[in-house]
Amino acid sequence: MSADQNYTPPNDMPPGPIYPMLAGQKALVTGASKGLGQAMAIGFAEAGADVLVNYRGDRAGAEDTVQMIEKLGRKAVAFEADVASEEQTQAMFRCMIETFGRMDICVSNAAVQMNAPVDEMTLEQWQRVIDVNLTGTFLCAREAIRQFKKQGVDRSISYSMGKLILISSVHDIIPWEGHANYAAAKGGMMLFMKSLAQEVAHLRIRVNSIAPGAIRTPMNVEKITSPEIYQQQLLNLIPCKRIGEPEDVSRLAVWLASDQADYIHGSTIYPDGGMLLYPGFIGAG
Ligand code: BGC
Repeated sequence: MSADQNYTPPNDMPPGPIYPMLAGQKALVTGASKGLGQAMAIGFAEAGADVLVNYRGDRAGAEDTVQMIEKLGRKAVAFEADVASEEQTQAMFRCMIETFGRMDICVSNAAVQMNAPVDEMTLEQWQRVIDVNLTGTFLCAREAIRQFKKQGVDRSISYSMGKLILISSVHDIIPWEGHANYAAAKGGMMLFMKSLAQEVAHLRIRVNSIAPGAIRTPMNVEKITSPEIYQQQLLNLIPCKRIGEPEDVSRLAVWLASDQADYIHGSTIYPDGGMLLYPGFIGAG
């Protein structure tokens, strides 16, 4: 094949940042009654989006999230659904469309931890973690892709047909004894995410993961309320020497959902303070 010196590939990238970065967009966030889900739901609202706040059990937490979003002048609705249930997940997506008319951003964040050494792990502990963390991600992703395809691309809203963000963990790479069910689910999420990203990139549907390290959330209560655990154990694993804040993740989620990340497909981004940098080698290699 000969090169045509006069040929230049067309440029189809979005313009630079227009604030608020998610104006007019509609987002669904699972597990948004607390922790990272709550922070991302609020971050999206600050960036101009309306949000469906999914929760399971913690109604008061979900209502707090809704109120904080409404204070920002955005719309929010709370919806209870167990993402491990196909029926409940589909009902949640119907509520999304009935309430907001469309969906631009879907964040699969809901997750559980049920820790045990493998030889003591019950089938229920194994199954529930896989059901929520991995199968729940599949069920949300499937409904999201179906909805994005139905909508098509609307350039007045976004250059993407839709954005799907999976909240994974550094444990999609780092092995975690005592948490094999959790690490298996997160490792599975990684290749699910990449396979799906490959499947739908041509439609300009962007599928990516955020895989945080240790963040100040209710899941990490023990690590932040015990000075011994925090200073003598946790900080040894974090080269930048501080625990992550939910905003470290929500700021990234806002950017990843925005057109500023238009060329990011199938990536995993690790807000982890350097946890993946083999901290055991610091001063010991
Ligand atoms: C877990 C946290 C843990 C972090 C780093 C996350 O996936 O949810 O409990 O602190 O990984 O180990």
